[in-house]
Amino acid sequence: MTLDKTPESATRRDLADAELTTAVLASFVGAKSPRFRRIAERLVHHLHAFIQDVTLTEEEWRLGIDFLTRTGHITDDRRQEFVLLSDVLGVSMLVIGLNHRTPAGATASTVFGPFFAERSPDLDNGADLANGAPGVPCFMHGRVLSVNNEPVADALIDVWQADEAGFYDVQYDDLSEPRGRGRLRSDSHGRYWFWSILPEAYPIPHDGPVGELLSAAGRSPMRPAHVHFMVAATGFQTLITHVFVDGDPHLDSDAVFGVKDSLIAQYPRHQAGRAPDGRVMDRPFYTMDFDLVLAPAGPTTDAPDDSRSERDERPA
Ligand code: BEZ
Ligand code: FE
Repeated sequence: MTLDKTPESATRRDLADAELTTAVLASFVGAKSPRFRRIAERLVHHLHAFIQDVTLTEEEWRLGIDFLTRTGHITDDRRQEFVLLSDVLGVSMLVIGLNHRTPAGATASTVFGPFFAERSPDLDNGADLANGAPGVPCFMHGRVLSVNNEPVADALIDVWQADEAGFYDVQYDDLSEPRGRGRLRSDSHGRYWFWSILPEAYPIPHDGPVGELLSAAGRSPMRPAHVHFMVAATGFQTLITHVFVDGDPHLDSDAVFGVKDSLIAQYPRHQAGRAPDGRVMDRPFYTMDFDLVLAPAGPTTDAPDDSRSERDERPA
């Protein structure tokens, strides 16, 4: 029986290396989606070029397959090693950069990370989202604004952060309720305010394949201290960002390349006494004031240009 004969099938025999690449590229000619075809072809092009470039040995190829296999095996619904891999290779930040050409004045985006939780407690402004997470108290506040400096009311603000030991609540096996995370809404003036704890620097999970990669490279797994924000409001692009702590020694060596100058804030320390919300503190505390500026909804990506010439099609 003759199976469906594709137009390019006659070319798949006795192929020299360069012909092999051409034949694989030609194998996508029947793809229904032009975007899929473009991505598959360019992936093959760069993959073949990379293998030629480094003259990959069979042993190195086997190690690579083993690395990816173990990355898959360690991944489950609590641990996403592929996202970590994307983060440490700078791929996450590259995709964010390409897809968030935000207008001047809008708060910059950075990595989402693996520690967001869908079920986060709904809190009122002023609440303590630490909920017992160990750390020094920190009062965080600011406004949600448009790029025209207008307040954005009723924005949904998700916040999550690590405790003073550098762990997110989801990294503990024995916690019965969320700690160091919550969901608030901006008030009619765009304001938000809540209590939490001073964020601390922490290592990304490095007891798996990604940790091996980092140590093979002599790289640190540390991320500088930060608090995560995700802000959603009608008519605006959803903002995923962090507010970093000025002075953190890891700001210039973030394991996932997520630091931007505009996202570094002061977290001044205060002696015991009256806090900005009127609460009287019996121990020293910190404050952080950061406005979250949203870009208007609409296209901000560099539109895929599938019509570009194939000028560098062949691997060297
Ligand atoms: C985080 O900030 O939570 C994070 C981001 C990337 C990798 C690991 C953690
Ligand atoms: Fe984080």
